[in-house]
Amino acid sequence: MTAAPELELARACPYRPNAQHVRVRDAARPVRMRLPSGMPVWAVAGHRGIRAVLADDRFSADRQRQGFPFAVDGQPGAFRRTMISMDGAEHRAARSAVAGEFTVRRVRQLRPRIDRIVHECLDALLAGPKPADLVRALALPVPSRVICEQLGVPYSDHDFFQTRSTTMLLRTATAPQRLRAIDELLAALETLIAEKEAAPSEDLLGRQIRKGREDGEYRRTALVRMAFLLLVAGHETTANMISLGALNLAERPLLAAALRADPARAPLLVEELLRRFTIAEFIPTRVATEDVHLDGERIAAGEVVVLLCNAADHDPAVFPGPRRGARDHLAFGHGPHQCLGQQLARTELEIVYTALATRLPGLRAAVPARRLRFKTDAEIYGIHEFPVTW
Ligand code: HEM
Repeated sequence: MTAAPELELARACPYRPNAQHVRVRDAARPVRMRLPSGMPVWAVAGHRGIRAVLADDRFSADRQRQGFPFAVDGQPGAFRRTMISMDGAEHRAARSAVAGEFTVRRVRQLRPRIDRIVHECLDALLAGPKPADLVRALALPVPSRVICEQLGVPYSDHDFFQTRSTTMLLRTATAPQRLRAIDELLAALETLIAEKEAAPSEDLLGRQIRKGREDGEYRRTALVRMAFLLLVAGHETTANMISLGALNLAERPLLAAALRADPARAPLLVEELLRRFTIAEFIPTRVATEDVHLDGERIAAGEVVVLLCNAADHDPAVFPGPRRGARDHLAFGHGPHQCLGQQLARTELEIVYTALATRLPGLRAAVPARRLRFKTDAEIYGIHEFPVTW
């Protein structure tokens, strides 16, 4: 019997899925592969097949399960008891406890504040020297400041949180480095939340403490872990979409001009770029809890299914030209775990892309795109540094 091929984790081009993943997609059934670690997995790359897995409660998202790969390698305790790792009723309860903080209405209220943060970052960028690194000046601080303010984490600690969360998502970091980053993050959040217990503040964490106490269900450990998940999920992802979107605007001046002329185009552009980049492509991985038949294959209980979302989001049969901007892409996942922060992310991206097109009309990369360091070494795709001029 021939050995299963190794699944390639990197993409060669920001705009196109890995060619191997496209072949898996075209096979139109789950394909046996192995991870670079040697672990056998099923790879699924069809849009319909991925949605079927993500909506099926016979597949578990529990990252504590033996052998659950990727973002949790070497991070056994990190996601324990956070909603992203829970199944069924336990997941529903954890998600609904905080879902009210991320509704369309709630995010609309945050809009003026997000707008101010974006323009403050751009003021500083424009006042500084050229070329400048757009990642440091804009892509990282915007979502980081937004989520810190929302949670009630002092922004003065943002560098601390930023460096730790980047380390925990780097494939090149060793397991001890990742674990240390996680432990430091959890310890800092524990201290902060203990302080807030004495005088609950008017922010997400303060509200969770008050609500938890009213319901008689407050547990500090659970809140520390929730804060950890929101902090990490809330800025790494959006930051990468900001830098990739800025690259796109810099490479397509006509697109930037169209957005400048008509900012109402922003939501469509955001949706299109979310789909084209599908940056969190390996995050929605699942383990079968019982035998499941999918497109002619039997996935046995205990087997891991890796969902190649970027290849699915580039399927011309699903996303032909006229359907561009459709919201049924997989950039935010699908099913019960579909991204809780998606309205917040969309709003941040709309504001940032419009502000870039308007305030930096001459935006361009200061180095050729082939010299940029793309995050082929991280769980979430993006650019490490993006030197720009204008
Ligand atoms: C879940 C992507 C921004 C919070 C997810 C999932 C994906 C994703 C693919 C599904 C994971 C799974 O099925 O296992 C993204 C992308 C973002 C983004 C591409 C930015 C462009 C945010 C923001 C927040 C956030 C701003 C907010 C604070 C979460 C949370 C979950 C999640 C809490 C877990 C939901 C659950 O398990 O029910 N995200 N995300 N994300 N995201 Fe996001």
